[in-house]
Amino acid sequence: MSDEKFSRRSQNWFGQKGKNGFIYRERLRNQGYASDVFVDKPVIGIATTWSELNPCNAHLDRVAEAVKRGVWEAGGFPLEFPAMSLGETLMRPTTMLYRNLLAMEAEELIRANPLDAVVLLAGCDKTPPGLLMGAASVDLPTLMITGGPMLNGRYKGKTLGSGTAIWKYSDEMRSGKITQEEFFAMESCSARSNGSCMTMGTASTMACVTEALGVQLPGSAAIPAVDARRYSTSQEAGRRIVQMVHDDQRLSQVLTREAFENAIKVNAAIGGSTNAVVHLLAIAGRIGVDLKLEDFDRLARDVPVLVNLQPSGEFLMEEFFDAGGLPVVMKEIESLLHTGAITVSGKTVGENIAGAENYRPEVVTPFATPFQKAGSGIVVVKGSLAPDGAVLKVSAATPELMVHTGPAFVFENIDDFHAQKDDMNLAVTKDSILVLKNAGPKGFPGFPEVGNMAIPKKLLAEGVTDMVRISDARMSGTAYGTVVLHTSPEAAVGGPLALVKTGDMIELNVPNRALNLLVSDEELEKRRKEWKPLPPHAKRGWVKLYTEHVQQAHLGADLDFLVGNSGSEVPRDSH
Ligand code: FES
Repeated sequence: MSDEKFSRRSQNWFGQKGKNGFIYRERLRNQGYASDVFVDKPVIGIATTWSELNPCNAHLDRVAEAVKRGVWEAGGFPLEFPAMSLGETLMRPTTMLYRNLLAMEAEELIRANPLDAVVLLAGCDKTPPGLLMGAASVDLPTLMITGGPMLNGRYKGKTLGSGTAIWKYSDEMRSGKITQEEFFAMESCSARSNGSCMTMGTASTMACVTEALGVQLPGSAAIPAVDARRYSTSQEAGRRIVQMVHDDQRLSQVLTREAFENAIKVNAAIGGSTNAVVHLLAIAGRIGVDLKLEDFDRLARDVPVLVNLQPSGEFLMEEFFDAGGLPVVMKEIESLLHTGAITVSGKTVGENIAGAENYRPEVVTPFATPFQKAGSGIVVVKGSLAPDGAVLKVSAATPELMVHTGPAFVFENIDDFHAQKDDMNLAVTKDSILVLKNAGPKGFPGFPEVGNMAIPKKLLAEGVTDMVRISDARMSGTAYGTVVLHTSPEAAVGGPLALVKTGDMIELNVPNRALNLLVSDEELEKRRKEWKPLPPHAKRGWVKLYTEHVQQAHLGADLDFLVGNSGSEVPRDSH
């Protein structure tokens, strides 16, 4: 590396006068850049997760062009680069197996290149947290733009919410209420444009949560993917990131303890996905904020659900945007927020939301007359079945099942469940509690969204539409039901879930935040001695690295050696 000292990070590459500077500048000039772009302009990396294999992100190339317009306008030098894209619908076995790989890739790309700041282009479920985790471990000035939701699905004059409709109509097809032809017809009507799921699933949740964290410009989370305003806000983001370099406004100044508390409260007010819990814990771990699973319960208890969106409610993201989007929600719960928290707009949360007006109070309900009362969001339950906790989304569950004790019916893994779910002689009743093992971070591996196990066919025929289900898995943000998720420690590491047998009584008591396995300590000790871990899932490659290092759900399921921050120091030069 040159001994020259530069005030701007990228000048360690482009400012060098000798051989190495020649190499850095000369090859980039093959793209036709004028020589003055290398003279002390802030270099803005645009990390894009564009991919045709990730339909939710397939328009991010156009978002990137809008960002570049803004960067050039403000006197910066934009350079777009790809980061792995994680498409929820196509990737197997589950995108969550790769969130940490994206985070690791993004971190190393940001640090290894001549960047002064980075704009993260994300969409679908896992690329927002994956990119943000990686960026947090470098801590440059950072701004995120999510791709926005699809237009509302429409079928025979009715609204179809992505994800949520599939759970409902696949059950209806299994029970013979609709035909295969009707099912196929819906398929062509539910994804009408570019963008992510337009329910308040995980993608919309993470878009709102990143806006609440202050890393996305105010008002931008809800803009539909194909709305012209998504591109104008992206241009503004391009201008803004250049100013953030001049101000040296780093990610760690935005991602503070206060910002995470705001995000947790906003997640409660929007009726957001349980997946936000795992992702926020992981992001906090990277930036060094001491966030705990219990914080999600404690901070959300006083927050009512204001947003009447599927899967908990009625409307979809287009209506949410019409209502005024997230600033309206934040304005309604302003008294509960840290309004002094600084955001990437350069303003505080309070300043960002000062002018917010609610244009559709049936979509974003007022604080005084909320869609669902306080405590209807995500709760954390603990007890002998989940010593480190488990989560449940009250707004998506059945009120009568919030206090329920019943006999377990155990599935050893998700294949076991699929093999038995249509058995009309399955020994389950509406009072049974379905228990699924080995679907946690290590067990599957990859922590899949299978916790909302379908109601067994026998019970569907009896008209049962919901029952208590418990697992170490996650659940899609578009799904619903009385579903206890993320049970920690998971079965694959020998957590109490591994010891449950069919017929054991289990107690769920949400008001008391309790989840207990009603089996004697002596019997559990006997079972623990007989328990054997699963054989390793892989002998090589990413899956081996992942399974050896992934942490439990209550810690955010990051890899143990990726927690924390290595900073943005300029790496050694090897030319
Ligand atoms: Fe990408 Fe739902 S599948 S957001």
